[in-house]
Amino acid sequence: SKIHEFLQGLPKCEHHVHLEGCLTPELTFQLASRNGITLPDDPAYASVDALKNRFERFTSLDDFLHYYFESMAVLRSEQDFADLAWAYFLQADADGVHHAEVFFDPQVHQERGISYETVVNGFSAGCKRAEQELGISTRLILCFLRHLPVASANELYDQFLASGHYEAGVIHGLGWSSSEVGPPKDMFRDIYASAAAKKIPLTAHAGEEGDASYISTALEVGAQRIDHGINLIQDPQLMQRVAKESILLSVCPVSNLKLQCVKSIAEVPIRKFLEAGVKFSINSDDPAYFGAYILGNYCAVQEAFNLSVLEWRIIAENSVQESWIPNERKAELL
Ligand code: ADE
Ligand code: ZN
Repeated sequence: SKIHEFLQGLPKCEHHVHLEGCLTPELTFQLASRNGITLPDDPAYASVDALKNRFERFTSLDDFLHYYFESMAVLRSEQDFADLAWAYFLQADADGVHHAEVFFDPQVHQERGISYETVVNGFSAGCKRAEQELGISTRLILCFLRHLPVASANELYDQFLASGHYEAGVIHGLGWSSSEVGPPKDMFRDIYASAAAKKIPLTAHAGEEGDASYISTALEVGAQRIDHGINLIQDPQLMQRVAKESILLSVCPVSNLKLQCVKSIAEVPIRKFLEAGVKFSINSDDPAYFGAYILGNYCAVQEAFNLSVLEWRIIAENSVQESWIPNERKAELL
C-alpha cells in the first residue's frame, strides 16, 4: 500500500535492538552445526519449525529470556558474533535503517567461557562492515544484566574501563536489561554514577513489565534514555518531566504484544505520548524472536493508530534528534 511504501522509505533510526535477539531459529541451527554444539534437551529445540512455533507463545518477559539466553550457546567465535551482527544489518538496511544503536550482553557469554574480547571484536567487526558496506552509522551499547549478581556487572564494568573501548569509540554507551521485576530497581547505581562522571551515555530498560517507579529510579541513577518505558502513562507527573527534559523512550510495540505486556498494539500508549510531547522511537527489540524487524513495528503502529504523515515525520525527526551522534551526522539523516 501507499502508506507502507512511505514507511519503508522513511529514513529510520533504531535505538533498541539486542544483537543476540537477531539470532533466528535458522541461524541457531546453522551455528550449532558449524560449532558442533548440542542444542538444549527441550522439545522446543527439536527443529527449526518447533523453535519457531515456541516463539509464537511467550507468556512473559522471563519466559522469552529463557530461550534468548539458551540459544546464545551456539555463539562461540568472533566470526559467529560478526555474522550475527551482519545478519541484523542486512535486514535493517532493507527496512530503511540509516542509523542503529545496538545492544549486546557480554555477561552471559562470559559465563559460558567466551571472552569479553571475542564478543566485542566480533560484534564491532559487524558494525564496521555495516558502516563501510551499507552506510549505516552504528553505536554499540553494552548491557548489564539484572538477573545476575551485581558483582558480575562490576567485574564487567572494570573490564570495559580497562579495555579502552569507550575512548576508542568501539563501545559508545551502557545500558541494562533482562528480568525487570524482582531484582533491586537501583542495582547498578554505583556503575551508573561512575559512568556518568565519565560522561558515558547511559540508557536503561524500565517500565516494560515493571511500573513507572522503575522509570523514575532509572532516571534517578543517571539513565538519559529509557528502553520501553510504556508504563510511564501510570504517572502523569513523571510523564510531564520526561516530555520537558526530552528524554527519549525506545518503544518496541511488537515486543510488548509478544511478551504480553499489552493485549494489543493499540494499548501501547503511542497516541498519548504524541499528545503529551513525549519523544519516542519505534524499534524491534528482539526481531528474530518476535517476528518483526523495525519496519514491521512501524507498520503495526500504523495499523493500530492510523497516524498522519505529519505525525510520522515528527516520530522520525525525534528519532534522529535523540540519536547518540554528532550534529553533522544528524544533519545528514534529516
Ligand atoms: N533482553 C532482550 N530483550 C529484552 C527485553 N525486551 N527486556 C529486557 N531485557 C531484554
Ligand atoms: Zn530490549
